[in-house]
Parts: sequence; C-alpha cells; structure tokens
Amino acid sequence: MNGSATEIDHAGSQKLVVVGQGYVGLPVAVRAVEAGFDVVGFDLDKQKISGLAAGRSHIEDITDTQLAAALASGRYRPSESPEDLTGFDIAVISVPTPLREGAPDISYVESASDLLGSYTTDGSLVILESTTYPGTTDEVVSPRLEAGSGLRAGHDFLVGYSPERIDPGNTVWGFRETPKVVSGMNEESLRAACDFYGRLVDTVVPVSGTREAELTKLLENTYRHVNIALVNELAIHARALHINIWEVIAAASTKPFGFMPFYPGPGVGGHCLPVDPSYLSWQFERRLGAVSRFVKIADDVNNNMPNYVARRIQGGLNRRRKAVNGSTIIVLGVAYKKNTGDARETPATPLIQELLSLGADVKVHDPFVENYELSDTVEFIDLDRGVLESADAVLLVTDHDSLDYELIGRYAPYLFDTRNRIVDAPDRPGDDDWLETL
Ligand SMILES: NC(=O)c1ccc[n+]([C@@H]2O[C@H](COP(=O)([O-])OP(=O)(O)OC[C@H]3O[C@@H](n4cnc5c(N)ncnc54)[C@H](O)[C@@H]3O)[C@@H](O)[C@H]2O)c1
Repeated sequence: MNGSATEIDHAGSQKLVVVGQGYVGLPVAVRAVEAGFDVVGFDLDKQKISGLAAGRSHIEDITDTQLAAALASGRYRPSESPEDLTGFDIAVISVPTPLREGAPDISYVESASDLLGSYTTDGSLVILESTTYPGTTDEVVSPRLEAGSGLRAGHDFLVGYSPERIDPGNTVWGFRETPKVVSGMNEESLRAACDFYGRLVDTVVPVSGTREAELTKLLENTYRHVNIALVNELAIHARALHINIWEVIAAASTKPFGFMPFYPGPGVGGHCLPVDPSYLSWQFERRLGAVSRFVKIADDVNNNMPNYVARRIQGGLNRRRKAVNGSTIIVLGVAYKKNTGDARETPATPLIQELLSLGADVKVHDPFVENYELSDTVEFIDLDRGVLESADAVLLVTDHDSLDYELIGRYAPYLFDTRNRIVDAPDRPGDDDWLETL
C-alpha cells in the first residue's frame, strides 16, 4: 500500500458498493447517493435489481420518488454483475443472517466477503452491517477479504462493523436521524468508518471494537424480545386475575423515569426478534458452555402466543355455541409490523395454521402484504360491511393505521383485538361480549 490506509482519497466522488439491496442495503445506498457517493447497489436477486433499475422500490422506507432521484443523479447503479464491484473505495455488506436449525447461518456473509475479497484493493474500507454474533467481522469477514485480495486487513485495507438500526415504517426516526454505532478493527479502520458514516447520518457513536458493536445490536434486540415476553406473560396471567393489562401498562408509563412500555401481542415476527437473540445464545453456548436463560424464556413465551390467541378465539366461538371447525375467521393484517408489507417470520402464520388445523375457513385482509407464504392456502379479501357481517370471528393481528376501524368496530360480529386498537368501541346494545383483547 502506498502510505497508510487513512490516505483514502476523499476528494471527488468515492465509489461505494452496497452488497445486498434489501431492507437495510437499499436505504444505505440511496442515502449515500444523496451524500454524493457513486453507488453500486449489488444484489444476486435479478428480479430485485431489474425492479430497482426500472424505478420500482420493493421497500416502504424508500419511495419510488426517492429511487427515481437516485437513478436520475447518475450516481446509483443497481447491479447483479460482480465486475461492477471493481475499484470500490468503500463496501457495505448488508446480506441476510438467518437461522438454520436454530444456529446462525452466516453463509451469505461468507460468500459476500469472498466475492468482495477479489475486488478489495489497497486503501479499501469494508464494513459489515448484517446483524451477527460477536466475532464475525474479525473471524469471518477479515480473513476472507485477506484470502481473496492477498492483502492484510487493518494494514493494507480497513475493516469495520456498524449495526443497522433501521425501523421499517418509522416516520420519525429515519436513517439520517438515528444515531449510528460504528466500530473498526483498529484505530485507522474506526476513523475511516466514522468518516464515512459521518457523511450519511447526523450522529456517529464510535465504540472501541467490532465485538462491542456486534454485541450492541444483539443487546438492543434481545432487550425488546425479553421485555415483550414479560408483558405477554403478564397479559396471560393478568387476564386470569381479571386485571386489564393495557390499563396497567398505561398507568406504569406515567412514571417519568425507569420504565419503558412494551405491549403484548400475538407473538413476535420479522427477522430480528425471532432470530437475533439466538445468535447471542448460540455464541454463549459455543464459547462459554453457558445458557442464556433470558433468551430461552423469552423464546418460550413469545413462541407460545399464536397458540394462546388461537385458544382464546376457540373459547370466544365456544361461548357463541360455535366450533372453530367450519367457522369463517377473518384475519386483519399478516405483516409482522404495522404499516409495513413485511410478513417474514410473522406470528400470523403459526396462528393461521393453528386455526386451519382446527378446521376454520380463514380469510385474510392486508392492504400492504403482497408476498405471503400462505397465499396459496388462504384467500385474500377486501373488507366491507357484508364481508364482516358474514364472518364468525374477526381477528386483528396487525393494526395497520389505514384499516377502517370504524367499519370493523361496527360490523364485526365477534372481534378479537390482539393490539388493543379498538379503544373507543362503539356501543352495541344487547351485545357486550363482541370485543375481546389480550
Ligand atoms: N430489516 C430490518 O429491519 C433490519 C434491521 C437491522 C438489521 N438487519 C439485518 O441486516 C441484514 C440484512 O437484512 P435485510 O432485512 O436487509 O435482508 P433482505 O433479505 O431484505 O436483503 C438482503 C439482500 O441481500 C441479497 N443477498 C444475499 N446474498 C448476497 C450476496 N452474496 N451478494 C449480494 N446480495 C446478496 C438478497 O438477495 C437480498 O436482496 C440482516 O443481517 C438483518 O438481520 C435488518
């Protein structure tokens, strides 16, 4: 290398490649274009790439207008050709990190690192953003980049880790406003990574090493997983004691310090909460022979929620002298998160499967979700008075803001609201049992 890695040329436009153009990678790419980088958005998914090239965004957080502006700048190129990685200054890896049989599957990170290795040159900076167990950047990414490039990590080229905090559908905390935790494998890497993100976000939070940054992300998601499990368990027991859990959480939330509200629901979904804590417990077990008791309990409680909701509906229909078998149940919302079309790992799936196995005729209404794994099994319907009135039960799983709650509250014969969304329930004389919550 000529001189030191800190001599990355900051004059003019730098070439950034973002490997993976999904929920995480696409916002990074679009924001970097706005900040003046020349960006290649690389993905193996040809359909995604051709959609992006045609100006069609596949995620809610990036509008077609934002994408069109990025394309029109001439500095955003969606690509499926590895040759387009040639000559990059900075690379961000944002590929999936799922579980395979309960263990981390980092094969996508491995293959992305292998690929980038052959294009890594003197002075390059490579940053991993995928959520993963502590040690991945150091033990998996760096050696593969070294093997592919024949160069030395931390000396000839730089390596960092920065966890993504994207919150799909959140209109207050976007990519730019959300502080970004940044780390590097050594001082030079940290400086370069902070410099890069300093051009994209308002606040950069440097931490001392890549393991600290990797664990930060797992702490954030495990914290949510555990706290949601706590209120889910409380909700089940509070109901048995005839206590309104929603009122309790609202009351506790008036404490101005030391309390943060979490809410019960039909289970956790997305690829963060059901997945990330297992990266943590797997690493504890592998390295220390230790069991993460909190993760285990949270998994147990949260994974049981779809089954619990199915039993509650069974009870509600039973009170109406109906069996689940043969009943029409309308499920409102199958996305794991409101106001998004993301149905990955959604708790709606085990819940619907349970109702189907009991013989229910399940129909689904979700204005956001286009690709759903049970689409061949359940019918997607529009919502109107007749549809609601002809159902035996209506089950609110995802409380998208755009659902017509007035209509639902008026005509659903029996509504199970897992989100406590129908707080101003219309008066339905002669029927005080039409609405149930968790
Ligand atoms: N979605 C979120 O809200 C979120 C938030 C924080 C962190 N994360 C983490 O970020 C990472 C990416 O998640 P995502 O939601 O963006 O996933 P995603 O599935 O939406 O996108 C990942 C993309 O990577 C592509 N890909 C896979 N292997 C590739 C390779 N070798 N080369 C090029 N492209 C490849 C896939 O085709 C896909 O388009 C995961 O580790 C996830 O846990 C996600």
